[in-house]
Amino acid sequence: MTPQKYTDTNDKEELKCILCEKIAEYSKALADRHQQLSLFETAPVEVYNGDIRVVELFAGVGGFRIGFERASKRFKTVWNNQWEPSTKRQDASIVYQHRFGPEGHSNEDISTVNAEDIPDSDLLCGGFPCQDYSVATTLINSKGIEGKKGVLWWEIHRILRDKGEKAPKYLLLENVDRLLSSPAKQRGRDFAIILASLSDLGYYVEWRVINAADYGMPQRRKRTYIVAYHKTSRIGQQFERARKSPFEWILNKGIISSAFQCSEKEAGYNSDHSNFTIEGSLVEVTNNFGKSEKKNAKSAVCNAGLMADRQVWSTTVKAEYEGEGLTLGDILLPEELIPEEFFISPKELEKWVYLKGHKSEKRITKEGYEYNYSEGAMAFPDYLDRPSRTIITGEGGQSASRFKHVVLTPSGRYRRLVPVELERLNMFPDNHTQEATDTRRAFLMGNALVTGIVENIAHVLLDRM
Ligand SMILES: C[S@@+](CC[C@H](N)C(=O)[O-])C[C@H]1O[C@@H](n2cnc3c(N)ncnc32)[C@H](O)[C@@H]1O
Repeated sequence: MTPQKYTDTNDKEELKCILCEKIAEYSKALADRHQQLSLFETAPVEVYNGDIRVVELFAGVGGFRIGFERASKRFKTVWNNQWEPSTKRQDASIVYQHRFGPEGHSNEDISTVNAEDIPDSDLLCGGFPCQDYSVATTLINSKGIEGKKGVLWWEIHRILRDKGEKAPKYLLLENVDRLLSSPAKQRGRDFAIILASLSDLGYYVEWRVINAADYGMPQRRKRTYIVAYHKTSRIGQQFERARKSPFEWILNKGIISSAFQCSEKEAGYNSDHSNFTIEGSLVEVTNNFGKSEKKNAKSAVCNAGLMADRQVWSTTVKAEYEGEGLTLGDILLPEELIPEEFFISPKELEKWVYLKGHKSEKRITKEGYEYNYSEGAMAFPDYLDRPSRTIITGEGGQSASRFKHVVLTPSGRYRRLVPVELERLNMFPDNHTQEATDTRRAFLMGNALVTGIVENIAHVLLDRM
């Protein structure tokens, strides 16, 4: 497929199938590996026997939906929720509805939605914001324990709890990698609270920190992926049979390790193996978990692990991948398609060079105190023969920045990345976010995930559910 200038088309039917050629190839290879047909389907949702009903929370612009639906037409997103608290204009919700239709979409604060108003589903997914999960008090009511108001983890928890027997049997959740080590004074406590609360709802949980670039995807983006299956589910039963070898599950037999091969960081060296039980009520976990006198104490939770009945097994793994890797250079549009405002003028260049460069200088605080400031140099321009750095929400806009990507064009000019390129780095279809301004499109991609990760996990789930 030939790349098009990103503002060129308004034809939605067209837009639905434009996937950067390189990304389409990657997706096809995933499908071949799993012997599944891979098409991104956006027709109105009709659920048939054998379909997997998905609810997408904190949906943003639909990264999970794209990953699932590209893996198989059997994944049907029956309901989704997206509400941005910080802006009046609901860009993500607008984009989501343009791409997938308004049917089944909710643009409300999730904390105001009753579980009974959410259709029953087989799988719930979402990238919930990273917050403080502590439980200050136990509010024992007829439905059990409640966490702090405004902390969105507890909204997921509330929905699962209130759904009772009709709760989805499967969960796929995403969060930043520091979820496993926060807060600083009680390393791993927040994640232990999540694990304990899911255990109390009857789920087994596996997790892994995955860097998309380690598996050939075009962006270095490290996120924690959490897959949970209810004890009564088919995968729950599979785990029961394998339970006596939990590390085998983490390293080979589990859902995440089947999708993303890995090995222990240092074979035969097991000092990172961690095996413990999360004891006590959630308030006790809040107060006691990970308390350490030591500065720089390590989290008991490593980058891969498993939890069943509050027993936790975890270890440090590294990626095993022998396929080809996509690079930043692979997904760039030709220079002639780039609008002029994305080029950096020679006058502005100096600022960029300074911000990207190594510094060791004296600075003065607002209060007048002098201090030494130092930081290393960033790649400038960004390497084209490697996966990109992580896209952050501030990637858009013309102002000079240390963190925005800058590439050198064949004609020798410097430029920022256009929204389509940011979409490609997350393996979204081209122009997916075209209803928003360029700066907001960058913001939306800074919040989103690399859809290839979900797509690969979805293939395994499909096979095993
Ligand atoms: C990390 S982003 C998820 C992005 C998404 N996975 C994607 O692919 O675009 C979290 C999302 O949660 C949304 N959000 C934050 N607070 C919310 C709330 N109270 N109710 C519903 N959505 C909320 C944010 O607007 C944001 O889009």
